[in-house]
Amino acid sequence: MNGTMKVPGDKSISHRSVMFGALAHGKTTVTGLLTGDDCLSTIECFQKLGVEIKRDGEYVEIYGKGLEGLKEPTEVLNVGNSGTTIRLLLGILANLPFHTTVIGDESIAKRPMGRVTLPLKEMGAKIDGREDGKFTPISIRGGNLRGINYQSPVASAQVKSAILLAGLNASGITSVTEPEDSRDHTERMLQAFGCNVKVDGLTKSIEGGQKLQATAIDVPGDISSAAFFLVAGAIVNNSSIKIKNVGINPTRTGILDILEKMDANITIENANHEASEPYADIAVETSNLQAVEISGDIIPRLIDEIPILALAATQAEGTTIIKDAAELKVKETNRIDTVVAELKKMGANIEATEDGMKITGPTKLHGARVSSHGDHRIGMMLAVASCIASGVTEIENTSAITISYPGFFEQLQALQS
Ligand code: S3P
Repeated sequence: MNGTMKVPGDKSISHRSVMFGALAHGKTTVTGLLTGDDCLSTIECFQKLGVEIKRDGEYVEIYGKGLEGLKEPTEVLNVGNSGTTIRLLLGILANLPFHTTVIGDESIAKRPMGRVTLPLKEMGAKIDGREDGKFTPISIRGGNLRGINYQSPVASAQVKSAILLAGLNASGITSVTEPEDSRDHTERMLQAFGCNVKVDGLTKSIEGGQKLQATAIDVPGDISSAAFFLVAGAIVNNSSIKIKNVGINPTRTGILDILEKMDANITIENANHEASEPYADIAVETSNLQAVEISGDIIPRLIDEIPILALAATQAEGTTIIKDAAELKVKETNRIDTVVAELKKMGANIEATEDGMKITGPTKLHGARVSSHGDHRIGMMLAVASCIASGVTEIENTSAITISYPGFFEQLQALQS
């Protein structure tokens, strides 16, 4: 695989640019927005809340009228497959003294929402839903919140962000402490919109009553999407791939640290650390990979990259152990089960463990009929696996890939021609 490419905009940053633009006063412009289905769900939800949003491809204009400019929707808000949309949205709605019902797809219906509804109720929001508000459909009536000091049982940027967003209009100070640091895009972007977020180790706090001012956001490429091509470049023979303008926020670069530990030939060029979200070009060449242990506080820094790292591990010398990653069970699918089941069909030596997996390599993979299980990252991982497998691989339900990576197959094919 050879060539120079760009991956679509970062999903986490794209969601936040639309949401924060909707909360701000004035016209926010966004360039490089990810046009995947998840971010389109966010745009649609905020349009239903009365915000004017105009989109032309990856360029978006959001005409915010402040938090108080949001209006009680006449329809149910549907977040589709997007965990980030529903959890951050609930944090925002917790401030608003009107009624909203939020639903999502089949996968969202299985994902735990108690991790955000519990602290939001503690702040004073009225929330109900299936199993007492732990699962969708969820309805919420917010307003009159009080700040809390919340000790989150999980390292989750979605939980942290929901609480900080609720804290924007709560009385006093709202703080969240995590067991490990999760991605910090909310903290960075709130600063870019003129708000003050205090960072004290694992505790992040915000004072209520702050107003967001519209700004211009330039979204860098998504390192979680680049990850598929970084691993492809490392495991496909005679490869050399360069990916331009990839976000390298340190809370997201666990994949680079692990690939380096695995002895992958990766180079980082033209890094810009001045931007609110740093970015760089990343180059990769075919590599002789070595097994590693992936555990502890690096897990939140690469949680979305574990499916593709599991594929890399099938080509590495030795046994790779992934642990402390039970959060994988509550992603778009149970990613311990789906990764293990699908890679096994292709001949991998892989086993599920309580909180991760064990993979021994190198193993020659063979083509098989496999399934994404409706999970975009599983679909893309299997497509990369098919590039090194003998024979034909058939992947069921690849349409899920447009959740985070429209144009994925075209780019994969372009590198091979
Ligand atoms: C995200 C946070 C992560 C990640 C998800 C996007 C975000 O989830 O897996 O793809 O944008 O905040 P958790 O915060 O639940 O770990």
